[in-house]
Amino acid sequence: MLSNDKILDGKKLADKLNLELKSNIHDLTNTLKIRPKLATILVGEDPASKIYVNIKHKTSAYVGIESVMLNLVENISKHELIKNIRKLNKDKSIHGILLQLPLPQHLRKHTIEFLEQISPIKDVDGSHPCNRGKLFDYDETMAACTPKGIIALLEHNDIEIKGKNVTIINRSNLVGKPLIFMLLKRNATVSVCHTSTRDINSYIKNADILIVAVGRPNFITKEKIKDNVVIIDVGINRVDGKLCGDVDFDGVIDKCSKITPVPGGVGPMTVSFLLQNTYITYKKQLNIE
Ligand SMILES: NC(=O)c1ccc[n+]([C@@H]2O[C@H](COP(=O)([O-])OP(=O)(O)OC[C@H]3O[C@@H](n4cnc5c(N)ncnc54)[C@H](OP(=O)(O)O)[C@@H]3O)[C@@H](O)[C@H]2O)c1
Repeated sequence: MLSNDKILDGKKLADKLNLELKSNIHDLTNTLKIRPKLATILVGEDPASKIYVNIKHKTSAYVGIESVMLNLVENISKHELIKNIRKLNKDKSIHGILLQLPLPQHLRKHTIEFLEQISPIKDVDGSHPCNRGKLFDYDETMAACTPKGIIALLEHNDIEIKGKNVTIINRSNLVGKPLIFMLLKRNATVSVCHTSTRDINSYIKNADILIVAVGRPNFITKEKIKDNVVIIDVGINRVDGKLCGDVDFDGVIDKCSKITPVPGGVGPMTVSFLLQNTYITYKKQLNIE
């Protein structure tokens, strides 16, 4: 198989989904005369977070979603941040709220408390306990954007999930945990690995589908994987100023059956599902089925 045939092209699929969304939003806003609006909260000046927020806002504008960024000072207190979230909850013109993570160090231990402050009906990254709880019953309506994007990439590329051994290396709230339920719902056998996993290589070798979100370049190399594995590389790293994932892409390309590139794989799908989720929250607030 040519290596191009092996690429799970997240950029291409996201472009297609964004175009469909743009048309849906156009039709609906023509009738309703109210545009969906997303508020992003960025605390501090982290350059990578600023880039991500800018990409989200640029893509929002493309599909017809208005966006505002609340850039709060790095040393903001817990109380003030909560006040800002509550203000956005009350603002009827805002349909979706995204708190850009990670937060500055002094606030990081309170992350869950902040996410719980976002009204569940405006919670576009599926972080509120209400929306996370629904996932327990396999209701994915307001699930987190990255897992939604990963599942869409697999399904749109006709990759069978049922009965497959899926290894996820990550147990975070925004990646690994939601994926457990979304994959179980599709009848996969799911293994979740983390820093305390013993003999992690046996789980990697056993995977028919391997989802890696560790944040370490070259974490997955050719000798670790099984022939014909499907690899979803979620990691975002910068090496010598260049973006890369957690997988030694050039090393594994001949051995795997499919792989997401970095950039151009999971990243654009995450942004696309942020916008899809904003559209869902918008419709819910306007009582549209
Ligand atoms: N492309 C996208 O749209 C997108 C979206 C979200 C995240 N990301 C990227 O994905 C990566 C993870 O993000 P995150 O927010 O989930 O980070 P995180 O909360 O730090 O989670 C990292 C996970 O990897 C595990 N891990 C770290 N080192 C490991 C090792 N040596 N062996 C086994 N497991 C290990 C951690 O285990 P413990 O739980 O034991 O610490 C944790 O579960 C980052 O590179 C991030 O930039 C990309």
